[in-house]
Amino acid sequence: MSVAKKEYKRITTKSLVDMKQNGEKISMLTAYDYSMAKIVDSAGIDVILVGDSASNVMAGHETTLPITLDQMIYHATSVVRAINRSLVVVDLPFGSYQSDPKEALRSAIRIMKESGAHAVKLEGGKEIKESLKRILHAGIPVMGHLGLTPQSIYKFGTYTVRAKEEAEAEKLKSDAKLLEKIGCFAVVLEKVPAKLAKEVAESIRIPVIGIGAGNGVDGQVLVIHDMLGMSKEFHPRFLRRYADLHSEMTKAFESYRDDIKNRKFPSDKEQY
Ligand code: KIV
Repeated sequence: MSVAKKEYKRITTKSLVDMKQNGEKISMLTAYDYSMAKIVDSAGIDVILVGDSASNVMAGHETTLPITLDQMIYHATSVVRAINRSLVVVDLPFGSYQSDPKEALRSAIRIMKESGAHAVKLEGGKEIKESLKRILHAGIPVMGHLGLTPQSIYKFGTYTVRAKEEAEAEKLKSDAKLLEKIGCFAVVLEKVPAKLAKEVAESIRIPVIGIGAGNGVDGQVLVIHDMLGMSKEFHPRFLRRYADLHSEMTKAFESYRDDIKNRKFPSDKEQY
């Protein structure tokens, strides 16, 4: 089914709910710096997530745990400077909201105030309910994140598909309903069975954005480095590579190196 797209000058949290109601799928990508965010925004991607995946793809850590609130604010500030249309959502990093609701609110306020972002994202359901409520009561829009939650990787032990068992699937369904009830504007579902994700998306009015959650949800998100093919190593089943930048960039760097070595760069025309 092709859906006539409404033009949105600026994407707001309300636009996303409208899109769900109108059957228009939501596009979301991560970005962590000004130059990339500028391209993503002008390509018409609805939501830019300043994800804590910056810890992996920007800083080279094995997990998302080490990235700090200050570092997230630095990335978010650079992204916000580039934006004309996209909604900018920023991850609250590990350790900035789990200990108590007041700390969660302080972290969310810092992100909103210092970066100019439009919303925050937190991982978890019932166990962080009080923190979510506190942030929402301050008027800060919140996106939830359920399923595979990488900040809990040491609890899970692996990055495999979540909620395959009945008990975990039931918890996920009730967490999604809870997030809707307390006022989150959307929820990310990461690496869960497509059938379950579709059921969740159909059971709530707020948009469900999937990553490795099939096509029965209301939108999709990918990590920008992964979809651009910047790494050769990471190839989960859900990832579609829209470019092979690893090869393209390697070719460019090699040509540059060879041109310098062979005295072909700069040419007469490329000097003053
Ligand atoms: O940090 C991130 O990039 C994310 C996406 C995987 C949804 O949370």
